[in-house]
This record gives sequence, structure tokens and C-alpha cells, in this order.
Amino acid sequence: MSLLVTGLASLVTNDPSLGEGRLGVIRDAAVVVDGASVAWAGPASAAPAADRVHDAGGRAALPGFVDSHAHLVFAGDRTAEFAARMSGTPYTAGGIRTTVAATRRAGDAELSARVAALVAEALRQGTTVIECKSGYGLTVEDEARALRVAGEHTDEVTYLGAHVVPPEFGADTDAYVHLVTGPMLERCAPLARWVDVFCERGAFDGDQSRAVLKAGAARGLVPRVHANQLGHGPGVRLAVELGAASADHCTHLTGADVDALASGETVATLLPGAEFSTRAPYPDARRLLDAGVTVALSTDCNPGSSFTTSMPFCVAVAVREMGMTPDEAVWAATLGGARALRRADVGRIAPGARADLVLLDAPSHVHLAYRPGVPLIHAVWRGGERVV
Ligand code: NIG
Ligand code: FE
Repeated sequence: MSLLVTGLASLVTNDPSLGEGRLGVIRDAAVVVDGASVAWAGPASAAPAADRVHDAGGRAALPGFVDSHAHLVFAGDRTAEFAARMSGTPYTAGGIRTTVAATRRAGDAELSARVAALVAEALRQGTTVIECKSGYGLTVEDEARALRVAGEHTDEVTYLGAHVVPPEFGADTDAYVHLVTGPMLERCAPLARWVDVFCERGAFDGDQSRAVLKAGAARGLVPRVHANQLGHGPGVRLAVELGAASADHCTHLTGADVDALASGETVATLLPGAEFSTRAPYPDARRLLDAGVTVALSTDCNPGSSFTTSMPFCVAVAVREMGMTPDEAVWAATLGGARALRRADVGRIAPGARADLVLLDAPSHVHLAYRPGVPLIHAVWRGGERVV
């Protein structure tokens, strides 16, 4: 069955060969979806026939958002911690342990239902690909369980055994790294595609992080790194050195960090929800973009530092607070996320791509930033199937 979506005031393809600029924008556009893939995109006046027609009524379309960084497998709630922060208590990595305790107590069905609810919430806001990390189990069994649960809801599963050192290890970080790179990895590697580490004061230092990422890579997992979130540190340079797919957060950067990112293949994934919810200074996207770094935007959805699934919110904040243009932010939230996940099939609307398509109740993608907080998502197709 093929479907012609026509009557699009504008279409972001993210393919410069199909339209204007880096976003490849086509005005008065149409898209043909055949099965799970895009068969054609171009001016409506030139559209081929299809089995069915959907008239978009002058709305804008863009690729589904690719949220390449989220922590969805958790139980419990950190409302009180958030409220305390808003009256001045600083955010620290240690809050993660509150969620670890609640997650360990939860049953499998509860965890799975929570992930399903968050994935559905993200989908209603236009997210058609979402990555999901473990990291709130921190025992062999609990990490394996988190990855299994994540894998029920997404293909992009990340082993984050090295999130923090759990309380039963006291200050013996090296002993915990031994577990994470040994028996825990053995158990978890078959359940994940990626390996991640929280390289930060209060979590894992540069050497410990390198050990975690290299052990994961030796088991076939591709590295991504929580880097330079709360302060300066070795995370970003380590990510580039190891050829990580992405260095995430990038809030505190030196010139050497920016140069490293500009010289390598590692995507800088910025997570404005975290700075919003921890009342921290935002990362300087402008500086990265001007240096030629590939930038992605993601939610970092988690109960501690960023409890949002909304990519439109991240786009709006990135434009207002981080020096991004609306075009740059929309690219970062779609094709940028795809780059961070090394996916060629998503993040663009071009022949052969997976048919992940979002229709906005607006004539242009710029409205995502221009109309902050407004529910603009009118319809979503994922793999050619209408899901919203
Ligand atoms: O990406 N930085 C490490 N992990 C999460 C926070 C997790 C938490 O506070 O529960 C993050 O911000
Ligand atoms: Fe995170």
C-alpha cells in the first residue's frame, strides 16, 4: 500500500539535494510512502499517484525526532530533589542512588510499563527513535534486567553499568569498575548495542572511564560518553580518542575539547533539559557549530536531571538559550540524533529512508521554537504506520 501525503506548506527533508539549504526544505511539498519507507519527496505539483491520499491541509512536515540519549528504565520519583534544587540546593551525581534503590525494588512488569509509557509520551511529541540506557540497577542482575526491559521498547539500547558507584561498594570505585568491565559486561554485552560511562567528578575518572569503554568495545559495544556535564574533565577528549559515536552534555568545554571534537567523528550531543532542570548554564552550541562540530539535541529523559520526553521543548530552549538557529536546532534533533546513533535510515525524508514523518499544526518547522510549549504535533507516522 502506498500513501501520498500532500498539501504540505513546507517539508524538511534534511537532504540538500531535494530542497533549499542544509534542511533541504521543499515548499508546497508532498511525500509518497510505500510500505515502511519513503518512496518519493518533492513538489506537490510533481507527485506521483498512490493508493491513498492524505491532505495535510497546509501543515509542515519534518522527519521524526531522533532522541539519542534517554534513561527510561527507572522507578520512583525525585520531585522533592527538584523542588529543593529550585530553592538553591545544587545538583550532584549522588542523586542517582535514590533512583537505584527504587529501581531495584520494582518488579519487571512495573519497569516495562513505565518505559512503555515514556516511549508513548515521546511518540506523541514526535519522537520516532529513542535510545535507552541502563544505569539504575548497578548489579549484574539489575543491569541485565534494565537492558532486557529497554530492548522490549527500542533497538537503541545502551549499557551504562558505570553510571555511579553503588552504595554497597563504598568508596571502592576500582572494585566496582572491575565488576562493570568483567562479569557485568559478560552478562550485559549481548543485550546492548552501546556502552556508556558517566565520566565526571563524583562518578568515574578518565582512567576508569577509559577502562569501561575499552572493555565494552572489546565485547562489540560502541562507546558513547557522559562528558563534561558538571565541570571540566577528560570525558570529551576521551570520547574523541576512542572514536565514540557521541560525547553527551558538553556543557563545560575548553578550547582543546572543542578542537578535539572538530577534528574527530564524535558527535556532540547537547541536552538542554538537564541544564534547565538543574538550573545550570547551558552549553554553547554556537561555539561548537562555528568550529564545525556535528551537534545533536536530545532530552536526557531521566528522573533526576531532566524529566522531559519533549524534543520540541529541547529545540525551543536550544534556540533561545544556546545560540542555535531554528534550522540548526531542528537538524540537530533529527539528522543530528541519527548521526549520534550512526543510523542512515532515519532523520531524513528521502527515497529509501524509513517513513518516520511528523506533521505540525503550523506552516513551518520554525514554529517549534517560535511557539514554545504549544502542542504542535498533529500526526506521526513511524515506519509508514500512522501512530499518532
Ligand atoms: O545524564 N549524568 C548522569 N546521568 C544523568 C542523570 C541521572 C540522574 O540524576 O538520575 C544525566 O544527567
Ligand atoms: Fe544522561
